[in-house]
Amino acid sequence: MDDPDCDLPTLLRTYAHFRIVNAVVAGWRLTYLTELRPRFTGTTHTLLDIGTGGGDVVRALARLARRDGIRLDITAIDPDPRAAAYVESLPATDGIRYRRASSADLVTEGAKFDFVISNHVLHHLSARELGAVLADSERLASVLAVHSDIRRTRLGYALYSVITGIFFHRSFVRDDGLISIRRSYLTPELDAVLPARWMARSQPLWRTLAVFEPAATTAAQPN
Ligand SMILES: C[S@@+](CC[C@H](N)C(=O)[O-])C[C@H]1O[C@@H](n2cnc3c(N)ncnc32)[C@H](O)[C@@H]1O
Repeated sequence: MDDPDCDLPTLLRTYAHFRIVNAVVAGWRLTYLTELRPRFTGTTHTLLDIGTGGGDVVRALARLARRDGIRLDITAIDPDPRAAAYVESLPATDGIRYRRASSADLVTEGAKFDFVISNHVLHHLSARELGAVLADSERLASVLAVHSDIRRTRLGYALYSVITGIFFHRSFVRDDGLISIRRSYLTPELDAVLPARWMARSQPLWRTLAVFEPAATTAAQPN
């Protein structure tokens, strides 16, 4: 689906299928409960999703927060025009603004958000792009940046291959997902490529998180 010339109907179906796959494998309910919710200090918070794709993760986060009486003002960005066209075709969701933009564009605008997140973006990036997205995240996040990604395992690969082969057809979900698992980091590998201010954490069911907390970094600075 990274190929700009890939079949458009199959790509649009893939964005829709990723809503289901992400709900099952991406662990955002847990990430919301352990990383985001404990840091809420008011009834409204801002959140940026970098590389939103089909936007399903932010719609799920908006729902989870709403149940807790919290309004998330969400900006969901992706520079890919096809992702932008897909999310624009969906019914509007209160509190979510989709923009065709990169994290660098928002840094240039001087934007700030309480929370900066991404899902399944890190393993897509070259070393240079990864460094840039992490540096952008540091500039954009005032409370927490948390990038969630797949953790590479043989069992996860085998299960994903079998299950998506049964349920998802005429979609890039299976083939691209398997490439993504092969490209993804183990937690120590992710830790090794993160800047010192970041931490890699494992999450159950084959996930890794890259976490940056500005307040913790400031507190750790020597006087
Ligand atoms: C595999 S997709 C993930 C889509 C979605 N987050 C999901 O989990 O289904 C990765 C997306 O990241 C976007 N991306 C890569 N670098 C980016 C950047 N610096 N700023 C914003 N989006 C970026 C790409 O355009 C691509 O759509």
